[in-house]
Amino acid sequence: MNALLLAGGLGTRLRPLTESLPKPMALVGNSPWLERLVIHLREQNIREIVMAVKHYSEVIQDYFGTGEKWGVTIQYAAESSPLGTAGAIKNAEPLLHDTFLVINADIVHDIDLQSLLSYHKRHGGAVTIGLTEVDDPTSYGVVEQDGDGRIVRFVEKPAREEAPSCRINAGIYVMDKKALQHIPSNREVSIERETFPLLIEKQLGVYGKVVDGYWMDMGTKERYRQIHWDLLNRVYTLPLPGEQRGNGIWIGSSCSIPSSVLLIPPVLIGDRVNIGERAIIGPFSVIGDDCIIGRNVRCAETIMWHRCLTHNEVVLNNCIFGYDLEIGSEHILHEAVMSRMEVLQS
Ligand code: GTP
Repeated sequence: MNALLLAGGLGTRLRPLTESLPKPMALVGNSPWLERLVIHLREQNIREIVMAVKHYSEVIQDYFGTGEKWGVTIQYAAESSPLGTAGAIKNAEPLLHDTFLVINADIVHDIDLQSLLSYHKRHGGAVTIGLTEVDDPTSYGVVEQDGDGRIVRFVEKPAREEAPSCRINAGIYVMDKKALQHIPSNREVSIERETFPLLIEKQLGVYGKVVDGYWMDMGTKERYRQIHWDLLNRVYTLPLPGEQRGNGIWIGSSCSIPSSVLLIPPVLIGDRVNIGERAIIGPFSVIGDDCIIGRNVRCAETIMWHRCLTHNEVVLNNCIFGYDLEIGSEHILHEAVMSRMEVLQS
């Protein structure tokens, strides 16, 4: 059994952070999410991984190589044009085992994948779709299941009173290779819109199982922020780097933080961060490695990736900054999401 990670989408809703970066490489708690995902798979004894890549594929391939550093084997199925969520699986077919996992690599989660695999073996159908329950199903594709867990149909964006359940596709599947016969080659195919409805119609056995554990799709800025607030609140218990100092304050190694600085928890500060006198950081802030923050800076509800430089007397509220940004002194930024052009060119 191996795992296919779908990591080739354009990530348009998370622009500009994804202008020059595959979305699954966005930092979550100061590490690329895709790296956390590889570690999560290894911890569940899934060591053979295929990555379906397209948008800035070289960023992923350069970072992970053969996967040896992480104790896994990684192969790549690269697309010359985006093939969509099912087309990417079809393209990876030669690298997949008879039964395999498919994970949308932008789903941040700590789900027990082995229980999904056991369920798949028990029912004997071609596909198991991991399901997650949402409070408001009206903006999703909602599943209707029979008493055995078999999915009978998807209802797209139902009115609340017409929703057959609150269960939606979690973007994590177990599939048998025979299902791939029903995906056309060399064209864009959506698994949600085309492949699953077709497999249900052909009665190949598409089952759904609600998965337990933390689950959040990082596809929008709001949800990307929410993942971080959940991390800092420990609703999502992914280990955080650095040493915990007091309740809700994590600080990396070799930082310079004068005693006049006020850290308002929860706050995560990376390695080698330099903070100027009387700065106020937090609540809900994540500062990447090697950032420099000037005097009297106020930074709240903000996520800053590695190597950002914030000059003196800056106010940041609810911002997300990509790598290497520089903010001039006396700027006030609210809800700014920014990334740098230089990264795009390199
Ligand atoms: P948006 O443009 O913001 O919708 O993001 P996206 O392009 O990532 O699309 P979406 O969120 O629907 O994708 C779900 C997962 O499938 C993500 O992990 C994507 O990287 C991946 N994905 C989407 N389209 C493709 C594709 O054409 N090829 C590959 N290899 N992966 C894809």
